[in-house]
Amino acid sequence: MKHLQGKVAAITGGASGLGRAMAQACLQAGMRVAIADIEAAPLQHTLNELREHSNDVIAIQTDVAQATQVAQFAHAVRAHFGRVHLVCNNAGVSPLGPVWENTLADWQWILGVNVWGVIHGVRAFTPMLLEQNEGHIVNTASVAGLINPPGMGAYNVSKHAVVSLTETLFHDLAARQSKVGCSVLCPAYVPTGIANSARNRPADLQPTPAEHSAETKAREAMLQKAVRSGKLSADDIAQHVLKAVRDNRFWILTHPKIKGAIAARLEDVMQEQAPRNPLAL
Ligand SMILES: NC(=O)c1ccc[n+]([C@@H]2O[C@H](COP(=O)([O-])OP(=O)(O)OC[C@H]3O[C@@H](n4cnc5c(N)ncnc54)[C@H](O)[C@@H]3O)[C@@H](O)[C@H]2O)c1
Repeated sequence: MKHLQGKVAAITGGASGLGRAMAQACLQAGMRVAIADIEAAPLQHTLNELREHSNDVIAIQTDVAQATQVAQFAHAVRAHFGRVHLVCNNAGVSPLGPVWENTLADWQWILGVNVWGVIHGVRAFTPMLLEQNEGHIVNTASVAGLINPPGMGAYNVSKHAVVSLTETLFHDLAARQSKVGCSVLCPAYVPTGIANSARNRPADLQPTPAEHSAETKAREAMLQKAVRSGKLSADDIAQHVLKAVRDNRFWILTHPKIKGAIAARLEDVMQEQAPRNPLAL
């Protein structure tokens, strides 16, 4: 989608981090913007901030893990703006721990937000874009959708699912000869609120502190540090996203250094050898 001026963007996880930066970048590009997020106060705060630049912004509190809420978000965006052109299925969370330690609640929470959230977004919005034969969908995965760092199996599983879903969406749109495009965003560490995502964990999916081993606590501290020290900002990532949308480019790999680890994984697959630890390469 080459021309963004006047077009409409719908962004989940829009209250903070990458989603908020995407909303800002879309407004700067002359777009109209709808943000959705589960967190009411930050959503209102971001809406106020964005409205300092433009009145063409709305915010709708939405839990992306709930199909009906995502459908309501999609309908509200179309009811307000008339059309939708760019859809960023971006909301995400990140519980850690060795795979056997992740609780059922961990799995249900992360798959609900990171995988079902994207599925609901694709199901709610794609028919609208197909109908107008115009638009672009950007699903936020992660480099963890292309490699498998230890200690974060649930996150890796969820992000590999997003890559798989989006790659298949690309083929399905091509089979329809649709002008609707799609991309998958695979960043490495970026300073955002992702390491504190437990703030949004629903009451019925809470862990008990005893379920976290010392190893998991150490990984949580490492994640906090790694996210804080990310070299690219959320704004940088948002610019990568808009460029990919304009260029109709599928892969958005914002951190090229990680390509060595991706290549190593593919080589391990092709050579049928034991997977190397991507963090040790
Ligand atoms: N920051 C990184 O290092 C990094 C790297 C790779 C991928 N990502 C991905 O980027 C996306 C955005 O995360 P971020 O880094 O901006 O973190 P963030 O915590 O700053 O933003 C995530 C947003 O999603 C919202 N959210 C959480 N659960 C939700 C739900 N059920 N329904 C609706 N909204 C919900 C949060 O309230 C928050 O505003 C995520 O999918 C994350 O996995 C982040």
